[in-house]
This record gives sequence, C-alpha cells and structure tokens, in this order.
Amino acid sequence: MIKVTELKKEYKTGKETVQVLKGVDFSVEEGEFVCIIGPSGSGKTTLLHLLGGLDTPTSGSIKLDGVDIALKSEKERTLIRRKDIGLIFQNYQLLPTLTIYENIVFPLHADGKKVPPGKVEELLAAVDLVGYEKRFPNELSGGQQQRVAIARALIHEPSILLADEPTGNLDRQRSSDTLDLLANFHLERKQTIVMVTHDMFAAGYADRIVLFKDGLIEAEVTREDEDYAKFLSRFLA
Ligand SMILES: Nc1ncnc2c1ncn2[C@@H]1O[C@H](COP(=O)(O)OP(=O)(O)OP(=O)(O)O)[C@@H](O)[C@H]1O
Ligand SMILES: [Mg+2]
Repeated sequence: MIKVTELKKEYKTGKETVQVLKGVDFSVEEGEFVCIIGPSGSGKTTLLHLLGGLDTPTSGSIKLDGVDIALKSEKERTLIRRKDIGLIFQNYQLLPTLTIYENIVFPLHADGKKVPPGKVEELLAAVDLVGYEKRFPNELSGGQQQRVAIARALIHEPSILLADEPTGNLDRQRSSDTLDLLANFHLERKQTIVMVTHDMFAAGYADRIVLFKDGLIEAEVTREDEDYAKFLSRFLA
C-alpha cells in the first residue's frame, strides 16, 4: 500500500543544508497499524508529511498503491490526499470559526462532495461526541478537539490514516481513549494507520514499531517478534 524507497530530504536554510532523511526504505501493508518512534528532530514529521503529499522529497520514491506521489505536481498531490489520505495533526488544526459539524465535513466540501447521509452521525458516535455538532472548537476540551480531528480525518473514508503525535497534548486517560478509538477503526474497519509518537504507551497499540534515528530507520519490531517486549521495555526504561 505504501512503499518508500531510498527517500532523502534535505532542507536548505541560508548557506546550510540539513539532511533530514538520509535514504529511508519503509513500507506499510494494507490494514497495518504502524507506529514510528524516535528522538526529537529525527525526521518523523518530515516523513509523515512526505507520505501525505504535503511536501516533496529531495530524491527517492513514495508509492501509494503503485503511484509515485513524489513525481506528482502539488495539485495532483492535493487531489490524491483528498481522496486517499486522512491526516491528524498534533495541534488538531480545527477551524475556529466553523462548528464541529462544519469542521468534520470540511474535507468533503473542499472537494465539492456531498456528505453521505448518516456519515457524520456515525462518526460522532464513534468518537463519542453526539450532541456537540453545533459547538465551536474553543468550547471543547483538548481531548474532544482531538476526537473531532479524528472524525474529520476519516470523513472521506481514506485508505490511509496518518497521525502525528495524536496523543501529544493529552493526559493518560484521554490518550488511552484516543488510542482505543484508533485501534477500533483499525480492528473493525481494517483502517491502515501510520502514527508518529514519542510515547511508548501509544506505540504499544501498533502491530509494528519502527524506530527512527538521525534520518534513518534504526530498528523495527512486530508484535509477533520474540523481542517485542524487550524492545518496548528498552524505551520505557
Ligand atoms: N522547513 C524546514 N526547514 C529547515 N529545517 C527543517 C524544516 N522542517 C524540519 N526541519 C528540520 O528537520 C529535522 C527533522 O524535523 P522533524 O520535524 O521531521 O522531526 P521529528 O522527528 O518530527 O521531531 P519531533 O519529535 O520533535 O516532532 C529537524 O532538525 C528540523 O529542524
Ligand atoms: Mg514531529
């Protein structure tokens, strides 16, 4: 479903060139829940933005169902994103002047599509926000806003959900509620999820954990691996 090959990304600031991704090979199967962990500045958000077509790499390919989005124009990438990708950002990025309902349906409206009957109600129930549709984002708690962001990311039934630190601003109870919600979408609807996190508790929800370091994948482990528990405890310690 996702196949990234020899992915490199550098940023130029003034005279300096910073190599952020140094040749990443990474793939995700359909229906997989993959978590990316790693130190601050190791390139996790950069990779997620490239997967979402928000930016283009310096070199390498990013194939989504066989289509290399690295070769597409910004306009084409936007169309692909609107159709196939759901994005959840760390700081929610809800639109403050729109109601919860309007925020959730925004991706469909932006794409000139109609809202399928019952879809918003179904998502509101899934994220436990029935009755909140007329409120504005600033009338919701952080955890509730994050759940709106999840509903918005899923309204167009994307084949891939990309989540950057979805529990970054939440306390432990709210985090586990949000993670349970993502895990449910994964288990019940076979939603493919790539999630970036600092939090090993969050990473424990994934089928596979990929450790990023200094612009490269340093290690990965799947739930079936013998050393899964050892891998987790190494980072929990
Ligand atoms: N637009 C940019 N211009 C220049 N450098 C950038 C830009 N975006 C990111 N960087 C640099 O790229 C590196 C990786 O950033 P990135 O946001 O991918 O890290 P991260 O792993 O997500 O970190 P964190 O865990 O803190 O979110 C950092 O050193 C950052 O300063
Ligand atoms: Mg980041």
